[in-house]
Amino acid sequence: MTGTPHLIGLLLGTEEDWPRAFETILGRLGPITGVGGERHVFTSERITIEPFNLRARPRHDLVIDRLAYWYYQPREWLKKVSMMNSVYLLNSPFTFQSMEKHTAYCAMMRLGLKVPETVLVPYKNPVDNDRYAYTASKYNQPFDLDALAERIGYPLFMKPFDGGGWRGVSKIRNPAELHAAYDASGEMLMHLQECIDFDVFARSLSIGPETMVMRFQPDQPMHRRYQVDHNFLSPEVGAEVVTIGRLVNAFFRWEFNSCETLIKGGEVYPIDYANACPDVALTSLHYYFPWAMKALVKWCVFALATGRRAKLDLETDRFFEAADAPGASYGEKLGAYRQLADAYFETDRYEDFCASSLAHVDDVVLDWVASPDFDDLLVQTVRSVYPAHEHEQFTAHLRGLITLWVDDESTRLRT
Ligand SMILES: Nc1ncnc2c1ncn2[C@@H]1O[C@H](COP(=O)(O)OP(=O)(O)OP(=O)(O)O)[C@@H](O)[C@H]1O
Ligand SMILES: [Mg+2]
Repeated sequence: MTGTPHLIGLLLGTEEDWPRAFETILGRLGPITGVGGERHVFTSERITIEPFNLRARPRHDLVIDRLAYWYYQPREWLKKVSMMNSVYLLNSPFTFQSMEKHTAYCAMMRLGLKVPETVLVPYKNPVDNDRYAYTASKYNQPFDLDALAERIGYPLFMKPFDGGGWRGVSKIRNPAELHAAYDASGEMLMHLQECIDFDVFARSLSIGPETMVMRFQPDQPMHRRYQVDHNFLSPEVGAEVVTIGRLVNAFFRWEFNSCETLIKGGEVYPIDYANACPDVALTSLHYYFPWAMKALVKWCVFALATGRRAKLDLETDRFFEAADAPGASYGEKLGAYRQLADAYFETDRYEDFCASSLAHVDDVVLDWVASPDFDDLLVQTVRSVYPAHEHEQFTAHLRGLITLWVDDESTRLRT
């Protein structure tokens, strides 16, 4: 079948589960017809790491990046192909490299969101630089760590300014724990943050203009953290959580990201929303995995078929204007942010495109997830993640949740 070809590159680390799902769904989807009647053909390819000439033209039109947050040679390749060749990136290292958790806190505070009180403290250990001793003796102010903690109040959280993967996060209950954690922080740069004693934890995964808000239980083992629960938030709080996730993403131009919010007494506190490589593992997302894979394929196909262009500048003034609107309430600001986010993600155009050009995607995904080929992926994934004596248990656990999704999705598509 002929049509405009589009090559999607996957820049991967150790993952095998979601790339195989993405490749399979894309292959089963086949060529699609755009809104103007034109044909588009999609293929994907795993990107390999090799020397590159800065003037070389890449073959890829879009890249999903899961590697550049720790592997810098491909990160520089991404920046080159974005800057020079307009390759569309999920996500752009231009903002993820410089705007990590700390900057995201600042941005969302600037927009009036309920980010918990947060203080950044200087490094515990000297910075490894010949000039440090002189500079520190001249300019570093002594500070009272205990007084800072008391002002925030116990318990509080100490965690790295650029956190991820729970590295260096601790809950601090008293001055002894405070000093122990600070001493242990070494060369990490730490935040002290007010603890929110939350009623529920909502973790939302967004891909383009689609968001799945999931009930999250951080104290559970990985395979039980996401609870299948469709009504754990009131409609108003649910809408607020969705808006916050989309706002973060539209603000930073992140298109594949997760956002963690803590809900207490109906108030929504965002605590973590700069995840360059959000968790989409089959073993942790289970029931929600088919949704995530479908949304990822749909957004890539939409971006390529409609010729969506990535922007390198953030145009933050539009958000700041809404934040500074005289007399605007929190709810009114959220409404304005939602409009800006929907405009950024072209939500209406995306929905029309999905209805006309991707009408078959639901059936494609359901057929595949219900097939032996998906079950093989499930079994292989369990084998690669868990030790042999746990294979049977986790295969049964995951099969149960996937069967639940297949049943729910079959019902949804029939009604
Ligand atoms: N201010 C807070 N109030 C209550 N709990 C918090 C707060 N900050 C962090 N936590 C708890 O600590 C966990 C890890 O914190 P955070 O998400 O900021 O770090 P992280 O390194 O990004 O972790 P992950 O990669 O697992 O999301 C959260 O999932 C939450 O359970
Ligand atoms: Mg987190």
